[in-house]
Amino acid sequence: MQNIAEKVSLRVKSPLNYIGGKAKLLDQILPLFPKKIGVFVDLFAGGFNVGLNVKAEKIIANDNLTFLIDLYQIFQNTSLENILQHIENQIDTFKLSLTNEEGYKQFRKHYNTYKNPLDLFVLMAFSFNHQIRFNNQHEFNNPFGRERSSFNDTMKANLVHFVRKIQQTHIEFCCSDFDKLDLNFLQGNDFVYCDPPYLISLGTYNDGKRGFTGWNESEERKLLEILQSLHTRNIRFALSNVLEHKGKENRLLIDWIYENKYMKINYLKADYSNSNYQTLVREKNASVEVLITNYEPEKVKTLFD
Ligand SMILES: C[S@@+](CC[C@H](N)C(=O)[O-])C[C@H]1O[C@@H](n2cnc3c(N)ncnc32)[C@H](O)[C@@H]1O
Repeated sequence: MQNIAEKVSLRVKSPLNYIGGKAKLLDQILPLFPKKIGVFVDLFAGGFNVGLNVKAEKIIANDNLTFLIDLYQIFQNTSLENILQHIENQIDTFKLSLTNEEGYKQFRKHYNTYKNPLDLFVLMAFSFNHQIRFNNQHEFNNPFGRERSSFNDTMKANLVHFVRKIQQTHIEFCCSDFDKLDLNFLQGNDFVYCDPPYLISLGTYNDGKRGFTGWNESEERKLLEILQSLHTRNIRFALSNVLEHKGKENRLLIDWIYENKYMKINYLKADYSNSNYQTLVREKNASVEVLITNYEPEKVKTLFD
């Protein structure tokens, strides 16, 4: 029997500090997934915290951010040694450190000129809050993370585990809008997990600016239609979302759930330790974080039971 600490340490944590990343919710989400999965589709892979921790015959990881999928493909096809060597070389060449803002700015210019996907990872390591942010011209524009951000030991350990797991797992990376990805080949044992931008809360990728596609009611409706058609084909799915956030309700989603009686609402205990300050001062208006499934999850003991 594994104890809790062992179980948690077996999880791979994304080395990207990804907005909306589900690392902290994995212990509640994963036990709700089916036990036996053929193809697992992570339709909005983001930091890839979920798909990489699922046991399945094959994982399809999709996101419409080209630079993200390009980076994962480099992780998949380059030896760990070469990846680490490239990172160390760039840190040396541009003298990147906790205090060298000029070096950071020069390196950012270098990335925006040549767009080497691995350089994006190095840039993110030294950027404010380790965040990835682009302007409308698709130039990385996150400021320097003075005295706070660097390629530290924790990030290095997360990167090493992440790359190893990617290289040991059968994964196909796709860069497509969720509604353009072909899901027709899926069969009864397959499973689709959706973690889209949340309609009623803000992520950098929500507003359609900064080089990201926007998320709005029309996108949400398209997604719900796709889920409905999966259900008609007897394919299981799970959808992460919030039903309420800062006093706002996602009426569209709530109505859809009640119209489709087969839907199960699994309530999660939210964890905001990775959120920004504005979100933290919402104390009075707690978020209702859920995993919507089109099946009854097996009653599995979680770390919280
Ligand atoms: C909440 S994040 C996913 C986080 C991820 N589950 C994790 O744990 O790191 C949502 C992702 O959806 C992606 N996205 C937004 N619009 C999309 C679209 N139309 N098609 C595909 N992906 C999209 C964003 O780029 C973002 O990476």
